Amino acid sequence: MKARENHRNKAIGIFDSGIGGLTVAREIFRQLPNEEVIYFGDTGRYPYGPRSAEIIKKFSRQNVNFLIEKGVKFIVVACNTASAFALEYLEKIYNIPMIGVVGPGAVAAARASKNGRIGVIGTQGTIASESYQKSLTAINGSLKIFPKACPLFVSLAEEGYIDKPAAKLIADDYLENLKNKKIDTLVLGCTHYPLLKKTIGAVMGGDVKLIDSAEETAGAARAILSELDLGSSAAAAGKRSFFVSDSPEKFKILGEAFLGRRIAKVELIDINSY
Ligand code: DGL
Repeated sequence: MKARENHRNKAIGIFDSGIGGLTVAREIFRQLPNEEVIYFGDTGRYPYGPRSAEIIKKFSRQNVNFLIEKGVKFIVVACNTASAFALEYLEKIYNIPMIGVVGPGAVAAARASKNGRIGVIGTQGTIASESYQKSLTAINGSLKIFPKACPLFVSLAEEGYIDKPAAKLIADDYLENLKNKKIDTLVLGCTHYPLLKKTIGAVMGGDVKLIDSAEETAGAARAILSELDLGSSAAAAGKRSFFVSDSPEKFKILGEAFLGRRIAKVELIDINSY
């Protein structure tokens, strides 16, 4: 009984290539306030978007090894690129429950669209993997999907360039074609992109709903924890720890600005040793 209780009070592990996964972490903090969370941002090896499936699998495996060593009970792959290329692979290797962000994002988009015309933006990897296209058409075969890779959005977010004129210029250029496709829903298929939501929304106009998978993913995580009887007891303190593979100070500054709260400590780890 005590062992079960101890297991339930272990942390949720979250990883992304950098700060993008904080969009998911923030929603998990909100929906699951008593859960302890350990966040890993692979800032030393970001961006994941242009890399091969093999490398993404290797990086994701090391990230999971690190989180498992920290004793987590559940893992959230808070990166679309890693979800697209590595989630299935990780689920086969590890005996620990996990969730990615692509499935929940697709569910939210299919639900939101009224005209069945959905745009998907993401990294080159996520778009090339066609994982959103597959997930969306599996939900509803008559949906029309319009994909577009927007790799520079990741750098803009990592550099804190979220509402500068340069961000608007790049968004105008990337999204120009999508604007003629009569989409009513646009999936922000990269966890960095919600950081640019205002700019993307201004370019697309008020009639296009922007879907970020954070809320849906946190909701799905909550459902899985309760189904598996893995939710922490109310007494748990909701402690949060942050780890990165490079530049902890930069992560702390951007992370605090984004979360709107102080991050006490960001620890540097050597992810290559995992
Ligand atoms: N935030 C990540 C994603 O959702 C990856 C961005 C990157 O590292 O290229 O795909």
